[in-house]
Amino acid sequence: MSGATSHRYVGRRVVRLDGAPKVRGEAAYLGDRAVPGLLHGVVLRSPHPHALIRRLDTRRASVMRGVRAVITAADVPETRYGIYIKDATVFARHRVRFAGEAVAAVAADTLEAARAAVAAIEVDYEPVPAVFNAEDALRDDAPLVHPEWEQYDAAPILVRLGNRSTRGVIRVGNVEEGFAKSFRIFEHRFTTAKVHAGYTEPRGAIGFWDDDGSCTVWSSTQLPFAVQETLADAVGLPSSKVRVVATTLGGGFGGKLTVGVEHHAVLLARSARAPVKVVSTVEEELTSSLPRQPAIVDVKTGVDRDGRILAKQGRIILDTGAFSGSGPQTASSCTNTLHGPYNIPNVLLEGVSVYTNNITTGAFRAPSGPIGNFACESQMDIIADSLGIDPLELRLRNIFHEGDKGPSGAVLAAVGLEECLLRAADAIGWNERRPGKDRGKGIACGWWMTTGMTSEVDVTLHRDGRVVLNSGAVEIGTGALTGAAQVLADDLGVAAEQVTVIGGDTRDSPYDYGAQGSRTTFCVGNACKNAAVEMRRALAIMAAPVLGVAPDVIELRDAAAHGDGRSIPFAELLGDEGVKVRGVFTAPAVPHEASRLENHMSPAWHAPSFHAHAVDLSVDEDTGDVTVHRYVVAQDVGFAINPTYVEGQIEGGAVQGIGQALFEEIVSRDGIVQNPNLTDYKMPTMQDVPTVETILVQYPTAHGPSGAKGVGEPPCIEPPATIANAIAAATGARVPTLPMTAERIC
Ligand code: MOS
Repeated sequence: MSGATSHRYVGRRVVRLDGAPKVRGEAAYLGDRAVPGLLHGVVLRSPHPHALIRRLDTRRASVMRGVRAVITAADVPETRYGIYIKDATVFARHRVRFAGEAVAAVAADTLEAARAAVAAIEVDYEPVPAVFNAEDALRDDAPLVHPEWEQYDAAPILVRLGNRSTRGVIRVGNVEEGFAKSFRIFEHRFTTAKVHAGYTEPRGAIGFWDDDGSCTVWSSTQLPFAVQETLADAVGLPSSKVRVVATTLGGGFGGKLTVGVEHHAVLLARSARAPVKVVSTVEEELTSSLPRQPAIVDVKTGVDRDGRILAKQGRIILDTGAFSGSGPQTASSCTNTLHGPYNIPNVLLEGVSVYTNNITTGAFRAPSGPIGNFACESQMDIIADSLGIDPLELRLRNIFHEGDKGPSGAVLAAVGLEECLLRAADAIGWNERRPGKDRGKGIACGWWMTTGMTSEVDVTLHRDGRVVLNSGAVEIGTGALTGAAQVLADDLGVAAEQVTVIGGDTRDSPYDYGAQGSRTTFCVGNACKNAAVEMRRALAIMAAPVLGVAPDVIELRDAAAHGDGRSIPFAELLGDEGVKVRGVFTAPAVPHEASRLENHMSPAWHAPSFHAHAVDLSVDEDTGDVTVHRYVVAQDVGFAINPTYVEGQIEGGAVQGIGQALFEEIVSRDGIVQNPNLTDYKMPTMQDVPTVETILVQYPTAHGPSGAKGVGEPPCIEPPATIANAIAAATGARVPTLPMTAERIC
């Protein structure tokens, strides 16, 4: 253990700790888990988008062969889902509000028996008027999705009026004055699609009960502690009686932030008195998971003769579906990305989340980020072309620099945006923007906040030098916990190979807010730094009486404590248990002044990340097919603790963003999903994307471990606008609608 931080591992391409078990097939995903006597659970879902349940009869299903439990809302207290979905219930009660809402569930010896029993449950529905269009839903005479709420006071963070859900606002200066001074004013509408979070492992859970009346859930979740809290509510137990163990995650991307199948597994297990596994089918993934909300964006921007933005006004209407699956930050973060990373003196932007009888939506990597960015950055190119200014130059005239104030009033530090833009442009060969017929290049940029909140870690140093890092965060698949281990190794002066990471278990791990919001490396890494301080203090206190000196004169190096010319190796200080300390990091929720929402994305606390994307593509003039030749991302990551996994995040995010740009859409007609399968819901494959070229730009933030900023969400934000701008350069046609399918281009 050396005295100073030596940075032997931080910044290096340490091989991911979770990599080898996954590649060897040793990692146990939820679907791989089994226990003796495991039953299979299947959920009955509403075929109607809006209907009253007049009769629900489970008698016939209950007596079928192999059936062990049938449950409905009658078996569950009227509980809310808690974090994120604050307004949904476990099963529909008297009324269904979207096609896909859970109505009942069955546990049986086999999957086939459970499916047969679900089909035998008798339900009489009485359809009632529904609303499917978010703009229609805002009208005074629209059918109410939650008519009973009229009787209640809304929860404090929710702004409810008719079908309105949550709202976020950015207000700076006076937009009317800004428009009055403008040389030109541009007004546009953009629309975006509902897209699935795209994880390859479906959501799944196994629930079982112990004889002492406590329950355990194995879950494919990003947030074991949130699952614990909401499940405790549903089963009427204190949290201490509910244990949630996160299994190896096959992707999450925000779609596994919310409790869903866990409720059904644990409640079925209680009724059946046996363990129950529930795994979503592909159809359920596309009808009753929590995709990104589709949106309508109206934006009006005033500029001076030189293209400097004087005023921006806009409204984003997010169709949240029947329930509000992603909380208030979605309505707020779309306004941040519609604002963009620009100095604008007069701003009035509003994000409104609206209930409809469409399927419930939720959090998806950079919630609503691409929606605002698509509008902001498409319009920047329209303005540039109209004023005869190069799109890159127009951005450079308006972007944030170090010391500028963001829309929340917070002073921005560590702003690597100019370098991102210049390097992305250079890499794509920007000086030749239209390299040939039907071929064009596009550029777009943006910013994103890192989520704060609390991470705790327990760190144990053993006699033989091994270090165990126990974190309640889940390794979502990014390598973030490898990064945390690198930070810890350096601060403890041990080899990264000596660090073992365990955790994701609400009983055996310290609290963590969870793998979300680009926060894991940031917050767990900071908690590791604090744990290292605690460890050094603990060792000094242990060594002081042995060496006969005060703890504060002790130096720690070479795996020994030194003082007054004498020393003692740690191996001799430590007992068999080793020494265990806790490191805590908390970035409190700071009121987001601009949005006037208690928002856990707090620009006052964290330096945002900045990014620029560039693409070179061609469009087939006969078919409208787009071929992406090259794709470049320059991202200011603060500091790359592990360049390999940072690049991996950027590559994956860009591919996901290309999918949103060109292919992906959950298509609904009158509330019914038309393409609930992976043939008609097209995701990008290796055929559709080139190698993503990554450029790591590093403007370290004082708040992050070793200067690191949040990395994971941003790379999926800019691809739609980048590609739209390149399609416009190639064809002269502006596509304002996502996805930009061949039909929309031609
Ligand atoms: Mo993310 S949408 O916070 O997993």
